[in-house]
Amino acid sequence: MAKYDLHNKKVFISGVSGGIGRELALKLIRDYNCIVFGVARNYQKLKNFENECGGRLIAEVMDVSQSGQWQSIARKMNETMFYPDVIINNAGVIHPFDSILNLSEQEIDSVINTNYKSIIYCVRNLTCLLEKSQSPAIINILSAAAALPVLGTSIYSSSKRAALSLTESLWQEFAPKGIYVAAVISGPVKTGLYQAKSGEDRQKIKEGIISKVGVSAKTEAARIIRGIAKRKKRIVSGITAKAMSAAYKAAPETSVTLSGFIMRLLPLKTFKAIFKKRNNK
Ligand SMILES: NC(=O)c1ccc[n+]([C@@H]2O[C@H](COP(=O)([O-])OP(=O)(O)OC[C@H]3O[C@@H](n4cnc5c(N)ncnc54)[C@H](OP(=O)(O)O)[C@@H]3O)[C@@H](O)[C@H]2O)c1
Repeated sequence: MAKYDLHNKKVFISGVSGGIGRELALKLIRDYNCIVFGVARNYQKLKNFENECGGRLIAEVMDVSQSGQWQSIARKMNETMFYPDVIINNAGVIHPFDSILNLSEQEIDSVINTNYKSIIYCVRNLTCLLEKSQSPAIINILSAAAALPVLGTSIYSSSKRAALSLTESLWQEFAPKGIYVAAVISGPVKTGLYQAKSGEDRQKIKEGIISKVGVSAKTEAARIIRGIAKRKKRIVSGITAKAMSAAYKAAPETSVTLSGFIMRLLPLKTFKAIFKKRNNK
């Protein structure tokens, strides 16, 4: 299979100010001499990171869940002639681990719009710029939850599954254009993703599960970049993601039931409560 050479590329990264996005930007800048156009919502974090990157990062405040902001960013990139070779759709959010019945509409919209619809907006607004590259690529950072839904994350898991299906549709649609499109199936990573909301269980999930089985954002970024360099269309990163993907592929119904059962055995009120509420209906 032909390799993808990341050296000296112009790379657009969403969610560049923290976690995996930040580490991807750092590695691409330092090891591959890339120029990164990065977006996120928090101005101060972006500015601090921009200073750290010494002119190799162009940072813009943007909320990827808003379609109008993609039109503005496309205009800005065009005006400054930042025609990306690689687009990395990385920005993502998770809702509290809870039953679908207890989530607010705002929490649901935020997850669907950030994790799934943003990729649609991105593709519709940035492909015309991407097509100017000799080696165009779109990399979508998804999750092992796209392969095997995780109990208590119904909206997050399904937003990632929808984004996976969208990525696979782009494999078909964009192949004649020569655009390399990849789905990244990440397992647990120690980042700020689980800090965004308060709650005793969320803290326990972060400290008890993610800190035990999660890898660092730096390790994850290196794995993703290795997968891109090999031009993999499906980058399944780490043992947990590999196990979850394999289990679902081998036995979809059993693996979903079994994973819910295992989560329920964990000493966390969250998962027990999800079942309890359902049984009480
Ligand atoms: N951590 C894990 O265990 C894990 C596992 C599998 C997959 N993933 C996926 O990996 C991706 C990165 O997650 P992470 O773990 O690195 O999370 P993180 O540490 O919370 O970082 C998320 C980044 O996205 C930005 N962001 C969030 N919402 C945004 C929005 N609406 N518009 C623009 N930027 C936004 C955040 O900055 P602002 O808040 O300033 O906007 C931040 O820079 C996500 O898609 C996530 O689903 C993570």
